[in-house]
Amino acid sequence: MTTPITKVVFPVAGLGTRFLPATKAIAKEMLPVADQPLIQYAVQEALEAGIEEFIFVTNPTNERILKAHFEANEDLEATLAERGKTAELKVVTETTLADNQVKFCYQDQPLGLGHAVWCAREFVAHEPFAVILPDDLIMAAPGCLKQMMDAHTKYGGNVVAVEDVPRELTNRYGILDVDQDDGKVASAKGLVEKPAPEEAPSTLSIIGRYILDAQVFAHLDKKMTGAGGEIQLTDAIAATIGDVAFHGLRFDGQRFDCGSMNGFVEANVAFGLKRSNHPDELRSVLKNHI
Ligand code: UTP
Repeated sequence: MTTPITKVVFPVAGLGTRFLPATKAIAKEMLPVADQPLIQYAVQEALEAGIEEFIFVTNPTNERILKAHFEANEDLEATLAERGKTAELKVVTETTLADNQVKFCYQDQPLGLGHAVWCAREFVAHEPFAVILPDDLIMAAPGCLKQMMDAHTKYGGNVVAVEDVPRELTNRYGILDVDQDDGKVASAKGLVEKPAPEEAPSTLSIIGRYILDAQVFAHLDKKMTGAGGEIQLTDAIAATIGDVAFHGLRFDGQRFDCGSMNGFVEANVAFGLKRSNHPDELRSVLKNHI
């Protein structure tokens, strides 16, 4: 029997330097893809997977913006109701999370993803938990985290989402040193963060979805820095291999790297075509640009 996962951590305290000046005043996760901010897709994916508690690792400025997005906006709701805009009212009310479902903690300095997750340790306590990086946007049915939950029920331990990347890009990802691989699920004897292509033990890379055993905090507590001088989550997960089962799941779906300009624009096209009320019109407009 595996412990059910009810908590998700959203590390959203990065600087978002690749999206300046858009990220000067707001978090990258509030940037919209089609008609919703990135963080909204992440919350929906977590809800679908059965998550009940949402822990945001952020800073005071972005906390205000995230809170405003997820709490009820009574004035807006009253205006929409008065004007008979029932569809819009439904969209707005569906974004509301209950106060007791939402927790905020601060990462005072962007010392790395591992450090951001460590900042959430008191809310996570001793339970296994999920981590979603909202800028890795995934189009999938069922959602990626739901697929991982099913794998976790089977294997327990740490489960991460993985995909093969071109070898020249291994220096952007955590890479598996593969032990066994059945084409869907891989186990690893080690993990290497951002290896140079010629040194990468494989091309199987971790993308922004994790289900982690709370033992990871014992390693994050040591605040060891790794690639890029940052406290890396991958290094802490690697340190638990042997004590905690580790599996990488090749999820069914398409990932968009919304931390990069091209990935973000591609996501807007893909989600725009899916979510637009007039996709044919959008498709024909897009053709003008290609
Ligand atoms: P990125 O590596 O994309 O970094 O972080 P970034 O700061 O957001 O963006 P760039 O590279 O400067 O453009 C991946 C995820 O980890 C979070 C980010 O907010 C993002 O969700 N993160 C990263 C933190 O919360 N804290 C950190 O110290 C680093």
